[in-house]
Amino acid sequence: MTILVTGGAGFIGSHTCVELLNAGYEIIVLDNFSNSSPKSLERVKELTNKNFKIYNLDILEKFNVEKVFEENDITAVIHFAGLKAVGESVEIPIHYYYNNITGTLNLIDIMRKYKIFKIVFSSSATVYGMPKQVPISENSPLSAMNPYGRTKLMIEEILNDVYTSNNNWSIALLRYFNPIGAHESGRIGENPNGIPNNLMPFITQVAIGKLNELKVFGNDYSTSDGTGVRDYIHVVDLAKGHLKALEKVINFNGVEAYNLGTGQGYSVLEMIDAFEKVSGRKVPYSIASRRPGDIGECFADPTKAEKELGWKAEKGIKEMCIDSWKWQSQNPNGFLDKESIVDYANALA
Ligand code: NAD
Ligand code: UD1
Repeated sequence: MTILVTGGAGFIGSHTCVELLNAGYEIIVLDNFSNSSPKSLERVKELTNKNFKIYNLDILEKFNVEKVFEENDITAVIHFAGLKAVGESVEIPIHYYYNNITGTLNLIDIMRKYKIFKIVFSSSATVYGMPKQVPISENSPLSAMNPYGRTKLMIEEILNDVYTSNNNWSIALLRYFNPIGAHESGRIGENPNGIPNNLMPFITQVAIGKLNELKVFGNDYSTSDGTGVRDYIHVVDLAKGHLKALEKVINFNGVEAYNLGTGQGYSVLEMIDAFEKVSGRKVPYSIASRRPGDIGECFADPTKAEKELGWKAEKGIKEMCIDSWKWQSQNPNGFLDKESIVDYANALA
């Protein structure tokens, strides 16, 4: 069975590719490497000892994306390709709408043409906007707070309409909470461009000495210690959730949203403490004002995914911190390390 993975070179995509290959699926990766390195896919091959086709392609190039479907016998698609930086989406909304929404429209139109009706889509907990209560279940009210979030919400709505138009479709909308961690080998992980926006890569870069200190965005939320609470989930658990969702879309028709989170929230200070314990490094921090648009507390009610997909996150905060640190300390410059550049040059030769 061949699965097309769009955005498969990225953080969550590369970990999902490893799990797919280990489970015996054939995969094809389509990525334009706008926010990733081909090196991650070389390492996926190394970790699994399996080969697969890679299309260096922009999902906006509809004509060329169609060729991928012509050339291969694809059973289902896992669609990660998209831009994800909230701040950037406020600055360049047209680019975000174009990339995420037009890209998805291209993809599903081609899927319709080739009668491939099975798709797992990367949505986000951001579709819950400012949640009125936690834990957040899938039927909580939806809203968007920025262009990035709006692209996720709009795509969910588009996919709902597509199912209404043709009940042969089989669609899983996976609402991720806060993915962190890395593959336990330390060979693949999150590789942000420039200064990280998200908490865990910021912490690991402070710990390795690339950044001086962490700014804790607000300590006056109504949480246990006043700092923001999130549902951090190990990226390998998240990747495994995609395999369960894939089984679901392969075997049933319909459109369903699932929260992929642990159900457990941790504050920023708790995260710093957990990280310091496993790494033995200090993470200097100071309290700053709240980040505009931030919410105080956000964690999932993950029971639907457990009941309907048979999936549950297994890794705890300690493993998340250990694996994030292993990735960061073994690859201080992500895939740009000297060894990586040599490997990449070899891969291209
Ligand atoms: P990522 O940036 O590491 O991966 C996305 C991949 O898509 C990258 O490899 C990028 O090069 C590729 N891509 C982007 N635009 C493309 C295009 N036009 N054509 C082809 N490839 C393109 O991000 P990630 O963290 O792995 O996230 C994967 C998906 O999950 C994204 O859709 C993101 O919005 C969503 N998501 C991520 C998080 C998170 O915290 N990481 C949370 C919720 C949802
Ligand atoms: C961010 C995105 C959200 C996206 C999610 C997962 C914003 C405004 N929101 O949310 O759309 O779905 O990532 O990718 O960017 N923090 C600090 N200092 C930092 C960084 C973060 O104190 O330097 C705090 C935040 O205030 C928050 C927590 O750490 O309380 C987690 O932040 P982050 O990793 O950015 O995730 P989200 O806020 O959930």
